[in-house]
Amino acid sequence: MTAAEPLAPRIALADGTSIPQLGLGVYKVPAPKTAELVAGAIELGYRHIDTAALYKNEAEVGAGVRASGVDRAELYLTSKVWNDAHGVEETRAAFLESLDKARLDYWDLYLIHWPAPTQNRYVEAWRALIALREQGLVRSIGVSNFEPHHLQRLVDETGVAPVVDQVELHPWLPQRSLRAAASAMGAAVESWSPLARGGVLAPGSRDLEVLTAIASRHGKTPAQVALRWHVQQGLIVIPKSTSLARVAENAAIFDWELTATDMAEIAQLETGERTGKHPDDLG
Ligand SMILES: NC(=O)c1ccc[n+]([C@@H]2O[C@H](COP(=O)([O-])OP(=O)(O)OC[C@H]3O[C@@H](n4cnc5c(N)ncnc54)[C@H](OP(=O)(O)O)[C@@H]3O)[C@@H](O)[C@H]2O)c1
Repeated sequence: MTAAEPLAPRIALADGTSIPQLGLGVYKVPAPKTAELVAGAIELGYRHIDTAALYKNEAEVGAGVRASGVDRAELYLTSKVWNDAHGVEETRAAFLESLDKARLDYWDLYLIHWPAPTQNRYVEAWRALIALREQGLVRSIGVSNFEPHHLQRLVDETGVAPVVDQVELHPWLPQRSLRAAASAMGAAVESWSPLARGGVLAPGSRDLEVLTAIASRHGKTPAQVALRWHVQQGLIVIPKSTSLARVAENAAIFDWELTATDMAEIAQLETGERTGKHPDDLG
C-alpha cells in the first residue's frame, strides 16, 4: 500500500513536540472494522488516530498501523486511561496493558479520559503519567474532559501541566472560557465530537440549514464547513466516520477558508447543549 502525503499541518505543543491538527477518532468503530479503516485513513494521508481503552479497539488500531506500511515515527497515536484505573499503580498497569494490546513501543499521547472527581484519584493518575513520560514510554501526556479547576489542581499539586485537554467542543458548545484557561496553562485543546456526534448535520435542523448555506458558497459540504470552523480557530479535531468516503471528505479542510461572516453565522448555533455528561457529573 502506498500512502498519500500528510493531509494536515502540525500544531506545536508546550513540551516541544507537535501533533497533526486532524486525527481519525475511532470511538464506536466496531473492532472488526477498525484495522481496515485505520489503514485506509493513513493511506488517504491521515497521520493521527485517537483511541482509548474504553473503545476496545486498541489492538485493531495497532494492526491497522502496521498494515498501512507507514513508518511508526510518522504517525501520531493517542490512547486514554479509563475511569476504573485511576491511581499510581492502576494507571501504570492500564497504560502498559494498552500498549501491549496495540503491540506498540510507545504512545505519542496518553490522556486521563475523565477526571471522575467523585473518586478523587486523578492527581495520582497524573503522577503515573509523569513517571511514564520520564521513562520514555509516552512522548506527551495530557487529559480529557478536564475543567479549568481540574487542570489547576494538577499544576498546583505536581507542577506539571497537561499539554492537551481533549474536550467536547462543537458549534453548540464552543467552550470559550475553558479554551482561555487551558491556553493560559499551556494546554492545546482538542475537540471531541466535533460534529456533535452528527447532531449539527441532522436533517431538518437549523444547524444543517446554516452549514449548507455556507457550504454552497464555498463548494464544500456541511461537514467540511463544521470541521473547518474548528481548525480555523487553531483547534485539533478528531472526527469519526466508519465510511472511508466520509473520512476523506472530513480531511479536505486545509486549503480554503471561512470568511468572518461565515464564522459569525456558525457562532449563532451556540446553545450550550452537550452530547455527553458534564465532567463534574461523571464518576
Ligand atoms: N475524550 C472523550 O471523552 C471523547 C468522547 C467522545 C468522543 N471522543 C473522540 O472524538 C471522536 C469523534 O467524536 P464522535 O465519534 O463522538 O462524534 P463526531 O465525530 O462529532 O460525529 C460522528 C458522527 O458523524 C457522522 N459523520 C462523520 N463524518 C460525516 C460526514 N462527512 N457527513 C455526514 N456524517 C458524518 C458519523 O457517521 P458515520 O460513521 O456513519 O460516517 C457519526 O455518526 C471519537 O471517535 C473519539 O475519538 C472522545
